[in-house]
Amino acid sequence: MSIRLHFIGTGYVGLVSGVMMSYLGHNVTCLDTNILKIEQLKKNILPIYEPKLAKYLTPLIKSKKLKFTASYGVELKSSQAIFITVGTPSLASGEADLQYIFTVLDNLYKWIRDDCLIVIKSTVPPTTCNKIIDYLDKQNVKFPVASNPEFLREGTAVHDFLNPDRILIGTNNKYAEDLLKEIYRPLTIKNIPIICTDLVTAELTKYASNAFLATKIAFINEMANLCERTGANIQELSIAMGFDTRIGKEFLNAGPGFGGSCFPKDLLALSQTAKHYQCNFQLVNSVITSNDRRPYDMVDKIHHLLGDNLLNKNIAVLGITFKANTDDIRSSPAIKIIKILLDKGANIKVFDPIGMNNAKKKLENVFFADFALSACQNSDIILVTTEWLEFKYLDWWLIRQQVKSPIIIDFRNILDGNMLKSLGFKYYLIGISNTFYNS
Ligand code: UGA
Repeated sequence: MSIRLHFIGTGYVGLVSGVMMSYLGHNVTCLDTNILKIEQLKKNILPIYEPKLAKYLTPLIKSKKLKFTASYGVELKSSQAIFITVGTPSLASGEADLQYIFTVLDNLYKWIRDDCLIVIKSTVPPTTCNKIIDYLDKQNVKFPVASNPEFLREGTAVHDFLNPDRILIGTNNKYAEDLLKEIYRPLTIKNIPIICTDLVTAELTKYASNAFLATKIAFINEMANLCERTGANIQELSIAMGFDTRIGKEFLNAGPGFGGSCFPKDLLALSQTAKHYQCNFQLVNSVITSNDRRPYDMVDKIHHLLGDNLLNKNIAVLGITFKANTDDIRSSPAIKIIKILLDKGANIKVFDPIGMNNAKKKLENVFFADFALSACQNSDIILVTTEWLEFKYLDWWLIRQQVKSPIIIDFRNILDGNMLKSLGFKYYLIGISNTFYNS
């Protein structure tokens, strides 16, 4: 059954979910007050880089199953459910800033019909939905409210939307639960599990999931430090650990630290929530501290190879986005490392296949190279900071001819070490024996 839906907020989550809900057969309108963004979307221009999304966008717009608008208005009356997908960035305190959610509610409630379901898809701290219900009560209006956290990842968002590990619904309202089950029926008939719980549990599950994944990464990163010092091999250790089904293979890749728009923000918000309820969530605080220290650990490795003084050292940085297959540079470890190196007087040349435009808005005093090769010319060291597959297949022979000093640190452990060593590179990885501490 086709259901009329609105998505409010066209960030990663809102845009991908809106487009893909329309692909599932629903009539979707995506609303965002950023007029420029909406005008672009109407012309099939995506404001973000997300593989495969464009392929779905064009035919859906053509078939009029998917529309875009920049204004609240009477069209909202036709909607059976409104998904709120605006940002919940960190306040200076670390708490989630809920102002965008409440601004949406203010704009919304005058237009929608009485039985319209309000679905909170943005990541919000526990009890937010109850606060929303109370807030609407004070405006003398009542709507069914549900929490429906999203678990898709940037870079694989289309696949994740169509193949979620589970769909999570939190509500105390039977009508809301039934309508959401109907909305997700095209997925649940493929045997994708749907879990129904109360509002607060759904809200907190999202934080718990992100915090647990971040904990796994921080753990493996600290384990990599120990591998380097003891002579063990983090890649083989991760594989061996991951075969234990209780642990699982995912999120055990050691690297320069986790970034992006979610993990760092959600850990801070969870920590603040715990504090608010007088829980000392020491583990989450340790993960935050561990990840904050990670870029400095990476810079220590550069010192180990180039000495204490990095003034005027030429450093090539390959990869600026927080992970591969996205143009998102928010909380990117590469940027943190670059800033530390700039403070030490190093000359930085960067290259990223997709993230350059965003990087140019954020970074000063670096040279933005058009190609990986030009970033590496005359370098004292090359850093691989994002796991873009194409870095593996660069013309490393040509790069070898043009560097000042043939040293590579692969912070993502993705390159072909034997090939690089045969070309005369000194090649260093993360968490592998006989590299930094035993060489
Ligand atoms: C994350 C979650 O994985 C999604 O389930 C969730 O929906 C999303 O946040 C969100 O809350 O909206 P995302 O931030 O897109 O998704 O990226 P991830 O793939 O989770 O990677 C996060 C960071 O961890 C990246 O910096 C990545 O490089 C790092 N990472 C990941 C590692 O260092 N090692 C790993 O093994 C895995």
